[in-house]
Amino acid sequence: MMHLSYIFSSLLLSGIQITACLAANSTTVNADIKSISTLVTSLQDDVQYVAAGISGLSWALQVQQDAIALDDMINQGAKDANASAAFGGGGSLDIGLSLISLEPTITKTLQAVAAKNESFGDLGIIVQYSLTQLKADTDTFANAVVAKLDSLEGGIAPGVIASIDKAFESAIAAYENGA
Ligand SMILES: *[C@@H]1O[C@H](CO)[C@@H](O)[C@H](O)[C@H]1NC(C)=O
Ligand SMILES: *[C@@H]1O[C@H](CO)[C@@H](O)[C@H](O)[C@H]1NC(C)=O
Ligand SMILES: *[C@@H]1O[C@H](CO)[C@@H](O)[C@H](O)[C@H]1NC(C)=O
Repeated sequence: MMHLSYIFSSLLLSGIQITACLAANSTTVNADIKSISTLVTSLQDDVQYVAAGISGLSWALQVQQDAIALDDMINQGAKDANASAAFGGGGSLDIGLSLISLEPTITKTLQAVAAKNESFGDLGIIVQYSLTQLKADTDTFANAVVAKLDSLEGGIAPGVIASIDKAFESAIAAYENGA
């Protein structure tokens, strides 16, 4: 039995090693941005159902789950961007376009979250905390991505990121009175 568990843990360790050795590149980071976009859209869908009181509670908790999954993906994206070589011409164009299309998705979602500021009730403080965390992690991710973009896209990206930051700030502000 001990032998088996030894083999199992060695397999587990070698698995981890293999994962760590697979270098991330612009394809990985672009796929991460697509996953982030999907998770943002899920959060946007779920937040529509948040209502004040017990009836809306399960949706409020679902939104909190969505926010955690989203934050994990953003952190994964930051790790991959950090581990990737410079994206080069094609990679920078793909990622630049993905970021440009992600921006309105995030902005719309944050507006939807802000519009529910009264419905979240006592959970508003948790929402505000999550938004603050997501904003900080998004900024870390954005910095890691910008560092790998070609100069053209690297010049455009900060404007896109500034719009995303502004949308975060408005959403965070909508939860100031509940805090
Ligand atoms: C990134 O790596 C994957 C797997 O190693 C590979 O299939 C893909 O073509 C690479 N992308 C670029 C842009 O080099
Ligand atoms: C980025 O990479 C550097 C060196 O490769 C490492 O020290 C740093 O912790 C990494 N940061 C993240 C967020 O993964
Ligand atoms: C919700 O947002 C509105 C508009 O920004 C604001 O007037 C209100 O005080 C906010 N409510 C809470 C609980 O923060």
